[in-house]
Amino acid sequence: MSTQKVAAWSHAEDFVAASEHIDAARHRGEELGAESVGNGVGSVLQVLAAAIGAKAVMEIGTGAGASGLWLLGGMPADGILTTIDLDTEHQRAAREAFAAAGIAHQRTRVIAGRALEVLPRMTDAAYDLVVVDADKLEYPDYLTQATRLLRPGGTLVMTWSDKESDPANRDAETRTLRDVGRSIRDHDQYAVSLLPVGEGLLVAVKR
Ligand SMILES: C[S@@+](CC[C@H](N)C(=O)[O-])C[C@H]1O[C@@H](n2cnc3c(N)ncnc32)[C@H](O)[C@@H]1O
Repeated sequence: MSTQKVAAWSHAEDFVAASEHIDAARHRGEELGAESVGNGVGSVLQVLAAAIGAKAVMEIGTGAGASGLWLLGGMPADGILTTIDLDTEHQRAAREAFAAAGIAHQRTRVIAGRALEVLPRMTDAAYDLVVVDADKLEYPDYLTQATRLLRPGGTLVMTWSDKESDPANRDAETRTLRDVGRSIRDHDQYAVSLLPVGEGLLVAVKR
């Protein structure tokens, strides 16, 4: 890849700066071992939420709340973010981050538990946007759940991994991502693109 391309990619990653609250949540996430999305991915989440006027958003993998703040920044004022995480310390940090940013508490539903135990209890076709950023080995099951949860025309976003682009990588996580990528690409119901932002961001719209 040319050095100009690398510089352009790096420029795009930081084209939109994070708010001080998002930066604080990201630092807290680092301390807790929950790596937050960078500014490139975060700003795409914000733009997508704004573009589709997402009033009902489901996030799998709350972390310390940085991605949630990006999403809330793009959602309409009456939009509600439902976000799931199995780690109670991460959840506490996220709640604190939402409060520090002045997010009204009724705009977030922070649900504790394993995603695959919580998601089946959520309502069919009730979400405009589903964002997946948790256990990559569970992505195939998240895809099944997201397909059920999204309304027609709703958008699915999955954080990806640099490793997936290199055929030499054959670890379990990479193989799972490849399988998921293939099944979304071959899915009649989805129009899909893998955006070269962060470690890759798979964006798919359910027809
Ligand atoms: C990469 S971090 C999420 C970061 C967050 N999206 C952000 O950008 O600020 C992944 C999170 O997924 C959570 N997680 C991992 N496996 C999970 C599961 N099976 N169910 C629910 N949450 C899970 C972890 O506890 C962690 O907080």
